[in-house]
Amino acid sequence: MLISLIHNLKNYMYKKINIPFNKPTLVGTEKKYVSIAIKSNMLSGDGKFSNLCSSWIEKKLSIKKVFLTPSCTASLEMAAMILNIQQEDEIIMPSYTFVSTANAFVLRGAKIIFIDIRPDTLNINENLIEPAITKKTKAIVVIHYAGVSCEMDKIVNISKKYKLWIIEDSAQSILAKYRNHNLGSIGHIGCLSFHGTKNFTSGGEGGAILINDESLIEKAEIIREKGTNRSCYIRGAVDKYTWHSIGSSYLMSDIQAAYLWAQLKVAKLIQIKRLELWNNYFISMNCLKFFGMPIYPQYCKHNAHTFYLKCKNRKDCDSFIQYMNKKKINVTRHYMPLHLSPAGIKFGKFFGNDVYTTQISKKLVRLPLFFNLNKKDQQHIIYKVYKFIDNYK
Ligand SMILES: Cc1ncc(COP(=O)(O)O)c(C=O)c1O
Repeated sequence: MLISLIHNLKNYMYKKINIPFNKPTLVGTEKKYVSIAIKSNMLSGDGKFSNLCSSWIEKKLSIKKVFLTPSCTASLEMAAMILNIQQEDEIIMPSYTFVSTANAFVLRGAKIIFIDIRPDTLNINENLIEPAITKKTKAIVVIHYAGVSCEMDKIVNISKKYKLWIIEDSAQSILAKYRNHNLGSIGHIGCLSFHGTKNFTSGGEGGAILINDESLIEKAEIIREKGTNRSCYIRGAVDKYTWHSIGSSYLMSDIQAAYLWAQLKVAKLIQIKRLELWNNYFISMNCLKFFGMPIYPQYCKHNAHTFYLKCKNRKDCDSFIQYMNKKKINVTRHYMPLHLSPAGIKFGKFFGNDVYTTQISKKLVRLPLFFNLNKKDQQHIIYKVYKFIDNYK
């Protein structure tokens, strides 16, 4: 079967085309819902579509309270304010992540304690968390890389033992699971992204904050509304609203929520398509000794957010990227380790040894994977991967 697949691929004639790394998900009904939002005259936050989207996420992911936000970055910033992160507090997180994961806490004056990742899932190494805890530690931030879960049972036990907050940076992991739990529903707070590179988008930018600890809901509501109790006023619970705490403007426009609603309504379809593309890559490349494949523990359900390959070393990775880009297929690396960046050096420190973080950042390459990637284009990509290996010395 494998031989026939290779044969088909080799015989696959294809015109020269550009295949981007990503195209934002587009299902076709976005305009319809955006037009309805425009006609409603309720364009500001928490309109009809915002409520539809937040209720959908609450139900689907079993979350106590969901607020839509302008981005996952904004959600993380909110999380740091809600948890009252202060100057000198220490926050534990992996270095292999996006800048916003750290920046949100640095904005409050906290120090970031970076620790190494696991070589299999590329997630925070749960066994290295406990030794990094000090009297100043306030929270653990986990990132479920590529929609594959961190080892949450162990992390939850550590957080209980030391009374630490857990924030799940679930930017990449909507609808993925750890055992029977939805990612984003396990920590005290979860943060989602609806950026144009994510499985679902609210028109390019967008996010949500997921509050799982009931005691934090009211605080979240106030911080999100510029530090005021405006939400109480809108519900009719008070006759005027006023300034209560620090906060900022963290609402999503209802036009963006309408765009997102079009996609959440067909979430199942989007996920089926993404998983099909992910599985096609996996099945056709698993036999190649040249690359390491993504690894996910059997009890984790990933969400096909990203498909990556691990090259043996930086040289192979550079050559592969160069070859694919020359063939007009846009493949790309991912995070540069935060602890080596100028801001990471200033605002954080790496605890223990960097055994895998830097190594992985040099060897990992992501292939195009998006909802409107058609099967022919994907076969073309796979064919070119095979061609690269055939020709590589
Ligand atoms: C792990 C992680 N956290 C946060 C973000 C920021 O998301 P947003 O662009 O919605 O602010 C990203 C973006 O890709 C990410 O990968």
